[in-house]
Amino acid sequence: MDTRVDALNLIEAACWNELERAAHEREHEWRLMALATADSGAPDLRTVVLRECDRTVRQLTFYTDARSPKVAQIARVPQGTLLVWSRRLGWQLRMRCHLAIEADGQAVSSRWARLKMTPSAQDYLSPLPPGTPIERPGLERGTREHFAVVHARISTIDWLELHAGGHRRARFAAAGPGWLHP
Ligand SMILES: Cc1cc2nc3c(=O)[nH]c(=O)nc-3n(C[C@H](O)[C@H](O)[C@H](O)COP(=O)(O)O)c2cc1C
Repeated sequence: MDTRVDALNLIEAACWNELERAAHEREHEWRLMALATADSGAPDLRTVVLRECDRTVRQLTFYTDARSPKVAQIARVPQGTLLVWSRRLGWQLRMRCHLAIEADGQAVSSRWARLKMTPSAQDYLSPLPPGTPIERPGLERGTREHFAVVHARISTIDWLELHAGGHRRARFAAAGPGWLHP
């Protein structure tokens, strides 16, 4: 029996349910996202870990090194796209977003206070900025943190479902939801 939900508002709610789960479950397929930004007119893309999801403001949050190239790209062009695929759900989400960097203030220091007790803290303590050419790989430990938070406000979700019974696609945007030809 086909138990596929066909009300657009329920499908959108199910997307946000999964995004909320992904922010808390290490094994969730959407825990890792591809974040695309613009690099002087060319697209750039990298994997990031989803840390927080606030569906009330349609916001996803990531952590990064404040000196990383993506931060400068976002400062120049604050528009991005996030991409995830789940084999379990058969769902791809392509999410247009407005990106904002926070590198200081209470929200950053409280997150860093939690993170600095964990092994992940090393990712933000290197004395060298990400992408610096080096002679050979090695452990460069520093003491100063370069922690920053990336907030992505989702403006549009392009949802694609691959299914043996027929693929489906929909767009969820401020103007309202609608079906698309897959
Ligand atoms: C599984 C995985 C998870 C990653 N998570 C993050 C992350 O949460 N934040 C981040 O800044 N970089 C993360 N990276 C590294 C980025 O993909 C990228 O290599 C690095 O941030 C430099 O990107 P940039 O040069 O575009 O700034 C991750 C890489 C992998 C493979």
